[in-house]
Amino acid sequence: MKNLTYHPAVLAFRWTGTSLLVLEQKRLPRREEFIPCRTYEQVARSIRDMSVRGAPAIGCAAAYGVALAARQKNFKTVPEWVSYLRKVKKVLAATRPTAVNLFWALNRMEACWTTALLERGEGKNLGAALSRRLAAEADGIFREDFEGNLRMGRYGAALLKKGSVILTHCNAGSLATAGHGTALGVIRTAHRLGKVKKVFVDETRPYLQGARLTAWECHREGIPYELITDNMAGHFMKTERIDAVIVGADRIAANGDTANKIGTYSLSVLARFHGIPFYVAAPRSTVDLSIPDGSHIPIEERSRDEVVRVGNTCIAPPRVVARHPAFDVTPSRHIAAIVTDVGVVRSPYGAGLRRIKGV
Ligand code: MRU
Repeated sequence: MKNLTYHPAVLAFRWTGTSLLVLEQKRLPRREEFIPCRTYEQVARSIRDMSVRGAPAIGCAAAYGVALAARQKNFKTVPEWVSYLRKVKKVLAATRPTAVNLFWALNRMEACWTTALLERGEGKNLGAALSRRLAAEADGIFREDFEGNLRMGRYGAALLKKGSVILTHCNAGSLATAGHGTALGVIRTAHRLGKVKKVFVDETRPYLQGARLTAWECHREGIPYELITDNMAGHFMKTERIDAVIVGADRIAANGDTANKIGTYSLSVLARFHGIPFYVAAPRSTVDLSIPDGSHIPIEERSRDEVVRVGNTCIAPPRVVARHPAFDVTPSRHIAAIVTDVGVVRSPYGAGLRRIKGV
């Protein structure tokens, strides 16, 4: 296998030691602009407003948010710190409900501050020490995600034949992770190995993550792609050769049912009808064994305005009634394999997912 050492050219955010610089994804591809977040409240806002988005990226950003929170106070006693950091966790957890990586990362940060406080006890300069320790934990989450994505890329690329035509939905690339990406990471690795003929990029209404972000990443990387509107997928599956559909995930239930960007479920039905393998690529942090199946996954309902407007233009009659579920659930029976950072899991998913989670 070729050497795949990779430094991400695209970073969704950068930690400076005193702030988190968040790439404002709402402005892409027109402008590359970073929002400086110096408080956890600013990080929470950037997640809620989707300046930073994508399940693993949200988890990483929230972890850095906790590190920032420790810099904002200088309590001297453990109970003061515990009650404050629990409030911080609650605020960050309330930003977006579907991607489980957010809660996974926040739980890991809580375990970190609990240990740190137990070890240090009470005293002066606890805030600075705590912030350093929490930033190191957030760095660890970031590094593990990036390295896991490189491994995932290799596992996933091995499933693809030379000259593959692949369809993807939403953005599961560098912008949605610590770097490289999950679904787009598999495509990226496969492209570097000379296996990708073309990628169909779904535009992904209503937020246009495909048109604005995935197309941008493919363009920068030199991956051949064609942008299509979501409703063209079935047409191309019928009239042209598509070898695989690869998507990311926001939460995978214990039985393999997978929540991902709205429109993913319809794609899985189309892929099944046309006999095209449908792959999900996600790290272990996206697997939620606490819920038995997809019916328990909370689906975020976002503002109707995001459906009614394209940019600043209203495309429907005034006061139109509109809905905006941001995610849907694909049943595990539609999924040919789940590509993770530690290998490929196939049906029966229950046993495979428990194995990779080490339980
Ligand atoms: O609403 P978004 O843009 O955060 O949704 C993103 C997705 O649905 C991605 O496919 C998913 O988070 C996986 S990202 C590696």
